[in-house]
Amino acid sequence: MSLVEFFKIQTLGDERGLLHVLEENKSIPFDIKRVYFLTATATGVSRGFHAHKQLEQAAVCLSGQCRMLLSDGCTTESVVLDSPGKVIRIGKMVWHEMHDFSSDCVLLVLASDYYDEHDYIRDHEKFLEITAHG
Ligand code: TYD
Repeated sequence: MSLVEFFKIQTLGDERGLLHVLEENKSIPFDIKRVYFLTATATGVSRGFHAHKQLEQAAVCLSGQCRMLLSDGCTTESVVLDSPGKVIRIGKMVWHEMHDFSSDCVLLVLASDYYDEHDYIRDHEKFLEITAHG
Protein backbone atom coordinates (compact mmCIF):
# COMPACT_ATOMS: atom_id res chain seq x y z
CA MET A 1 0.00 0.00 0.00
CA SER A 2 1.20 3.49 -0.82
CA LEU A 3 2.45 5.69 1.98
CA VAL A 4 0.81 8.60 0.20
CA GLU A 5 -2.83 8.60 1.18
CA PHE A 6 -5.19 11.51 0.63
CA PHE A 7 -8.34 12.02 2.64
CA LYS A 8 -11.32 12.54 0.41
CA ILE A 9 -12.86 15.88 1.32
CA GLN A 10 -15.88 17.66 0.00
CA THR A 11 -15.26 20.64 -2.26
CA LEU A 12 -18.25 22.76 -3.09
CA GLY A 13 -17.82 25.18 -5.93
CA ASP A 14 -19.86 27.73 -7.77
CA GLU A 15 -19.20 30.96 -9.60
CA ARG A 16 -18.27 32.62 -6.30
CA GLY A 17 -15.36 30.25 -5.66
CA LEU A 18 -14.60 27.07 -3.75
CA LEU A 19 -15.58 25.87 -0.30
CA HIS A 20 -13.63 22.95 1.16
CA VAL A 21 -15.06 20.92 4.05
CA LEU A 22 -13.09 18.88 6.59
CA GLU A 23 -15.11 17.09 9.27
CA GLU A 24 -13.91 15.37 12.42
CA ASN A 25 -14.40 11.61 12.40
CA LYS A 26 -15.86 11.84 8.91
CA SER A 27 -13.52 12.92 6.10
CA ILE A 28 -10.81 13.33 8.75
CA PRO A 29 -11.00 9.99 10.57
CA PHE A 30 -9.91 11.04 14.05
CA ASP A 31 -10.74 13.49 16.83
CA ILE A 32 -9.25 16.87 15.94
CA LYS A 33 -7.73 18.15 19.18
CA ARG A 34 -5.26 20.59 17.68
CA VAL A 35 -4.90 22.71 14.58
CA TYR A 36 -1.70 24.48 13.61
CA PHE A 37 -0.39 26.06 10.48
CA LEU A 38 2.94 27.07 9.02
CA THR A 39 3.28 30.45 7.33
CA ALA A 40 6.16 32.68 6.23
CA THR A 41 8.52 29.72 5.88
CA ALA A 42 11.88 31.17 4.87
CA THR A 43 13.28 30.33 1.45
CA GLY A 44 15.21 27.08 1.34
CA VAL A 45 14.02 25.95 4.78
CA SER A 46 12.88 22.36 5.30
CA ARG A 47 10.86 21.30 8.34
CA GLY A 48 9.58 18.18 10.03
CA PHE A 49 12.30 15.52 10.29
CA HIS A 50 10.44 13.49 12.87
CA ALA A 51 7.80 10.81 13.37
CA HIS A 52 5.12 10.48 16.02
CA LYS A 53 4.54 7.40 18.12
CA GLN A 54 0.75 7.82 18.37
CA LEU A 55 -0.31 11.07 16.73
CA GLU A 56 -2.40 11.02 13.55
CA GLN A 57 -2.29 14.12 11.38
CA ALA A 58 -3.73 15.51 8.17
CA ALA A 59 -1.91 18.22 6.23
CA VAL A 60 -3.03 20.46 3.40
CA CYS A 61 -1.58 23.50 1.65
CA LEU A 62 -4.32 26.12 1.76
CA SER A 63 -2.16 28.41 -0.34
CA GLY A 64 1.04 27.87 -2.30
CA GLN A 65 2.81 24.55 -2.17
CA CYS A 66 5.41 22.38 -0.50
CA ARG A 67 6.75 18.87 -0.98
CA MET A 68 5.96 16.27 1.65
CA LEU A 69 8.34 13.33 2.07
CA LEU A 70 7.01 10.31 3.94
CA SER A 71 8.92 7.24 5.04
CA ASP A 72 8.04 4.16 7.05
CA GLY A 73 11.68 3.23 7.43
CA CYS A 74 11.52 0.92 4.44
CA THR A 75 9.87 2.92 1.66
CA THR A 76 10.17 6.65 1.04
CA GLU A 77 7.70 8.61 -1.06
CA SER A 78 7.46 12.26 -1.92
CA VAL A 79 4.47 14.25 -3.10
CA VAL A 80 3.82 17.90 -3.89
CA LEU A 81 0.91 19.43 -1.97
CA ASP A 82 -0.27 22.17 -4.28
CA SER A 83 -4.03 22.24 -3.87
CA PRO A 84 -6.51 22.68 -1.00
CA GLY A 85 -8.10 19.46 -2.22
CA LYS A 86 -4.97 17.43 -1.41
CA VAL A 87 -5.31 16.56 2.27
CA ILE A 88 -2.57 14.07 3.04
CA ARG A 89 -2.50 11.60 5.91
CA ILE A 90 0.55 11.59 8.14
CA GLY A 91 -0.01 8.45 10.13
CA LYS A 92 1.70 7.41 13.34
CA MET A 93 5.24 6.10 12.96
CA VAL A 94 5.69 7.84 9.62
CA TRP A 95 8.84 9.92 9.26
CA HIS A 96 7.94 13.17 7.53
CA GLU A 97 9.82 16.07 6.09
CA MET A 98 8.54 19.16 4.30
CA HIS A 99 10.65 20.73 1.59
CA ASP A 100 10.44 23.29 -1.23
CA PHE A 101 8.00 25.67 0.44
CA SER A 102 6.75 28.40 -1.87
CA SER A 103 6.85 31.88 -0.33
CA ASP A 104 3.03 31.98 -0.18
CA CYS A 105 2.69 28.53 1.40
CA VAL A 106 0.15 28.15 4.20
CA LEU A 107 0.38 24.56 5.43
CA LEU A 108 -2.51 23.62 7.70
CA VAL A 109 -2.19 20.58 9.97
CA LEU A 110 -4.98 18.86 11.89
CA ALA A 111 -3.78 16.67 14.74
CA SER A 112 -5.47 13.96 16.78
CA ASP A 113 -3.97 15.09 20.08
CA TYR A 114 -2.47 17.98 21.98
CA TYR A 115 1.20 18.83 21.64
CA ASP A 116 3.37 16.33 23.50
CA GLU A 117 7.12 16.30 22.98
CA HIS A 118 7.24 12.73 24.37
CA ASP A 119 5.30 11.54 21.32
CA TYR A 120 8.07 12.68 18.96
CA ILE A 121 10.88 10.58 17.51
CA ARG A 122 13.38 13.15 16.25
CA ASP A 123 16.39 10.88 15.86
CA HIS A 124 16.33 9.27 12.41
CA GLU A 125 18.65 6.44 13.45
CA LYS A 126 16.36 5.65 16.37
CA PHE A 127 13.35 5.75 14.02
CA LEU A 128 15.02 3.24 11.66
CA GLU A 129 15.90 1.02 14.58
CA ILE A 130 12.32 1.02 15.91
CA THR A 131 10.71 0.44 12.50
CA ALA A 132 13.19 -2.34 11.69
CA HIS A 133 12.34 -4.20 14.89
CA GLY A 134 8.74 -2.99 14.99
P1 TYD B 1 7.98 20.87 15.39
O1 TYD B 1 6.81 19.97 15.50
O2 TYD B 1 9.33 20.34 15.81
O3 TYD B 1 8.02 21.40 13.90
P2 TYD B 1 9.15 21.27 12.82
O4 TYD B 1 9.61 19.86 12.87
O5 TYD B 1 8.50 21.61 11.54
O6 TYD B 1 10.19 22.25 13.22
O7 TYD B 1 7.68 22.20 16.19
C1 TYD B 1 8.59 23.28 16.28
C2 TYD B 1 8.60 23.79 17.71
O8 TYD B 1 7.30 24.22 18.07
C3 TYD B 1 9.01 22.73 18.71
O9 TYD B 1 9.81 23.34 19.70
C4 TYD B 1 7.71 22.29 19.34
C5 TYD B 1 6.83 23.50 19.21
N1 TYD B 1 5.41 23.16 19.01
C6 TYD B 1 4.48 23.42 20.00
O10 TYD B 1 4.84 23.95 21.08
N2 TYD B 1 3.18 23.12 19.78
C7 TYD B 1 2.76 22.56 18.63
O11 TYD B 1 1.54 22.28 18.48
C8 TYD B 1 3.72 22.26 17.61
C9 TYD B 1 3.32 21.62 16.33
C10 TYD B 1 5.04 22.59 17.85
